Amino acid sequence: MERDRRAHWLEPATALHYARAAVRVGLWESERLLVERHFRRNGRLLEVGAGAGRAGLGLLKLGFTQLTVTDFSPTMVEMARGVLGEANPEWDRKVERADMTALPYPDASFDGVLAAFNALMCLRNRTDCALALSEIRRVLLPGGRLIFSANDRERGDHRAEWAKHSPEDGLEAGERWHDSPTSPVFMRSCTEAEMRAELEIAGLRLIESALTTELAEDGPMAREFAGITRLYVAQKA
Ligand SMILES: C[S@@+](CC[C@H](N)C(=O)[O-])C[C@H]1O[C@@H](n2cnc3c(N)ncnc32)[C@H](O)[C@@H]1O
Repeated sequence: MERDRRAHWLEPATALHYARAAVRVGLWESERLLVERHFRRNGRLLEVGAGAGRAGLGLLKLGFTQLTVTDFSPTMVEMARGVLGEANPEWDRKVERADMTALPYPDASFDGVLAAFNALMCLRNRTDCALALSEIRRVLLPGGRLIFSANDRERGDHRAEWAKHSPEDGLEAGERWHDSPTSPVFMRSCTEAEMRAELEIAGLRLIESALTTELAEDGPMAREFAGITRLYVAQKA
């Protein structure tokens, strides 16, 4: 029987792991740098695949208050409401349930979209990722920007394992199950060239890409939580 690629994100123990990261790790310095460079503080912003609100909380604290924080998992949504509401009693209302492959928002309604720490990479497959990118493009205003991170199988922490990896039955190249602090997690990993091509197909132009380590010193907590990953900025033409 095929393993459920979404089950991990519904588990309370996983949501708790991400809530701890929201409180202890917070927004990485590399993320802060790109957010400050590409988003306006009064811009309408959407976060997809927000987990327990780690990055969203960081943005709100920085004054990006026109932010909607979303995740498909009801467990994550409840946890994010708890985390944000603890920081500010008005912020729990900023959290909504939304599947990024079918966003419940009108066309051209956001100046910026954030998909932090592999949110696009833990979708069920490449088709879901293409759907999510097309949905993100649809809800962005012309000129609007998408900031996201995705593990890089040529340059990231797991490059040695990826180099000798052959996909298990039922998985495509760049897909595998990883161990995690809770249950195994399904994850895709792209090269920069593959991601550029996926963005182009979705009608998004890559305008910046760098490994987290090339952008900033994120510190030991962020490194332990996320390893080295690639941050991308893309723009709707
Ligand atoms: C690796 S976690 C990242 C969490 C958060 N962005 C962070 O930086 O801590 C990926 C998140 O994507 C969410 N997710 C997975 N599939 C999704 C989908 N189709 N739509 C929205 N969120 C999804 C998961 O529930 C999970 O919270």
